[in-house]
This record gives sequence, C-alpha cells and structure tokens, in this order.
Amino acid sequence: MENFTAFNPTTLHFGNNILPTLGITLKQYGNRVLLVYGKGSVKKSGLYDRIMNGLKMEGFEVCEYGGIKSNPVIEDVDAAAAIGRQHNVDVILAVGGGSVIDSSKIIAVTIPVQNPGWDFFTGKATASKAIPLVAVLTLAATGTEMNPFAVVSNHALGQKSAFGSPLTFPKHSFLDPGLTLTVPRDYTAFGIADLVAHCFEAWFGIGEPTLTDRFVISIVKEAMEYGPKLLGDLTNYEYRAKIMFAATMALNGMTMYGRSTGDWGVHSAGHCLSLLYDVPHGASLTIVYPAWMRHFKPQMGKRISQLGTALFDEPLSADQSIDRIEAFFKSLGCPVRLSEMNIPDTSKQNLLESMIHSKVSGGHVKMKEEDYRELIGLYF
Ligand code: NZQ
Ligand code: ZN
Repeated sequence: MENFTAFNPTTLHFGNNILPTLGITLKQYGNRVLLVYGKGSVKKSGLYDRIMNGLKMEGFEVCEYGGIKSNPVIEDVDAAAAIGRQHNVDVILAVGGGSVIDSSKIIAVTIPVQNPGWDFFTGKATASKAIPLVAVLTLAATGTEMNPFAVVSNHALGQKSAFGSPLTFPKHSFLDPGLTLTVPRDYTAFGIADLVAHCFEAWFGIGEPTLTDRFVISIVKEAMEYGPKLLGDLTNYEYRAKIMFAATMALNGMTMYGRSTGDWGVHSAGHCLSLLYDVPHGASLTIVYPAWMRHFKPQMGKRISQLGTALFDEPLSADQSIDRIEAFFKSLGCPVRLSEMNIPDTSKQNLLESMIHSKVSGGHVKMKEEDYRELIGLYF
C-alpha cells in the first residue's frame, strides 16, 4: 500500500426534496449570488424557476450566466467571471451537470484576479482565493460535486485540460436524485460509463491497496447491477439514487486511498475525441477503454484479468475480461468504436496530431507516439 493523504471538505446533502435548505446554506456566504447553468435543461424542467423564485423570496440579489455547453469552453468561464466580478458576488450557485460545475470552479478562482481563466491551466496563475461555490447537481456522472477537479476546453489552443486545487472543492453540493429523472437515456448511459471508468482509472494506478480495491469493485458492481435497471426505467427514483451515489463515490478520493496515482491515460486520450469531435465524455471513454486494455495487455494483463474476475465473479483471462467489459458498455447503448459516432477513419491523422499536441499519457502506463497509432487503429 502506498502513502496517502485523505482530504475532502465538501458538505454533501443527498436525498429527496433537499432544496428548501439551499437558501440557508447560501446565506452563510453573503447575499449576492452568481447563478450558473447550462444550455436549457434547467429551464425546461422548471428547476430554474424554482430556484430563482426561492432566491428572490429570500432576498438574494441574483445575477446569472446561462449557456454553458457540454464539454465546456474557456470563453464561457471568462464571460461568467466578468459578470461575477462586476456584481461583486459573494457566492456562486452552479446548477447543472459536470460541465456547469467544472466551469463554476474556474469562475470561482478567476473572479478574484485579473487573469483569464486559462492561466490556471497553464500555471501562469495559482489559485490563492476563491469565491465559495455551492452546487446543485442535475446529472450523475463526473463526481465533480465532491472533488476539486475542473475540465475545460480551449479550442484556440487545441486543448482540453484539467485543473484542481484545494480551493476548488464545492463548499456544499445538493444531490437530489429526483432532479436527474429528466436526463435522457444517452446521457444517463454515458454517466454510468463515466463512473465505471473513474473506478478503472483508480484500479490501473500505482498501488494495490486491497481495501480500496474492494471499494472500487463495489462501486462498479453497483453500476453494473443498477445501471441496466435504470436504463429500463428512467424515472425510477431509487435507481437514480443508486447511480447518483455511486458516481459521487467513484471520484471523491476514496478510490485513491493507498495509491500514489491513478492512471488517467484513457481520460487523457478521450479528451482528444471530445475536443475534436465533441464526443460526449462518457462515450469517449467507452471507445477508448477497450482499445487501451487490448493495446496495453502485455503490460497490464494480470491486473485486467483480476478486474474481470472480481467484477464477473468467475475466473477470466485478460482477453475474456476485456470482451465482457466491452459487452457491458455496449449493453448500456454506449459506442465502443469511433465509427459508431459517424467519424470517418480519415480523421486518424488529426487525432494523432491532437494526441501528440496534448501529450496524452497515463500516470502509471506511459504512452508514446507508437502507442497513439496503435490505439487509434483500435478505435475504428
Ligand atoms: O446544458 P443543459 O441544457 O443543462 O443539458 C445538459 C447537457 O446537454 C444535459 N443535462 C444535465 N442535467 C440534465 C440534463 N438534461 C436533462 N435533465 C437534466 N437533469 O446533459 C448534457 C450533458 O451535461 P454535462 O454537464 O456536459 O455532462 P457531464 O455531467 O457528464 O459532464 C461532462 C463534463 O465533465 C468533465 C468532462 O470532461 C466533460 O467536460 N469531467 C469532469 C470531471 C471532474 N470534474 O471531476 C471528471 C470527469 O472525468 C470528466 O472529465
Ligand atoms: Zn470521466
């Protein structure tokens, strides 16, 4: 087991009808709120009106930034930060999925400084102050609600990068599974795949702490049992709750205890697909993971076989494990080849250049240009 530090300052409020305490929570930080949301799901579901009316009745001054796109972009972060700065906001309220909450984390550290938000990703700026962030999660997938990470794209520079600091944990996150009942089938499946992939990234990291490996297997098994049930019954609150809880636990630190690093090479490669072709994050992972396991089987075969054996409760070779995991992703309705996303194999060169430019690699399993070529071949 490797040495580790456990730290998680986010207060999680989980369950049915928990939003009535949102106002009291925000009040701790002040009266001026910047409300951040996405392209329109919150308006369509009525959540926007519910929250806005509640805030106004409780006497908050609210400014807002809507329109954060899935696979969020740095331009929106800067535009929202300018509004927050202009209104001297006390607290940010992010209402949405990972894209909205990730953007809000960077908005939170950008408001107090004069730098553009991208400077945090390049190291030109360091986070020394942040506007407190409160999140209302509407999509179970990323774990951003209880971690410090934010992933944002900069198309001008051809990069989708991650930033995190102890200051970018949400102060509070409200998780009402009822708010995820409207997530469409495809994004529900991508969310399940994403949480499973987060567990795999931990599993393939450095260090094999047996207790933490059991956490990982339990979380994936929960997703394998309830994911398909949820996809057959999208408005079932209990199934939504199980997946929401699993997604938060999959990336809040606990799968990393006793490891010096996770791998994250599949995420690193998947980000190139999202950057170039706007592939939804979860779908990028169900395409890359089978390819990554097949390509790195000579190095990681034992660990792949241990994973399959633990997940499917029978002795499986590495090849059998990969086939079964790929079949699980397919059963969710997720793509496992890039060609299923209508991306022609003439795009191979662009992808290669993007992977080189982004220095795609894992923390444990390092990748070179020859690996990129092999992986890309396996995507189609
Ligand atoms: O924009 P709106 O209209 O809100 O629609 C969104 C979007 O189209 C919709 N949606 C969200 N909640 C809904 C809903 N539709 C109906 N009902 C609801 N209740 O779903 C679509 C996808 O939303 P998005 O926020 O993009 O999805 P997700 O939560 O999967 O976030 C993906 C982003 O998070 C990053 C990914 O790279 C990607 O950019 N990640 C963040 C991580 C982190 N911070 O720890 C880790 C992950 O590995 C990941 O990289
Ligand atoms: Zn992910």
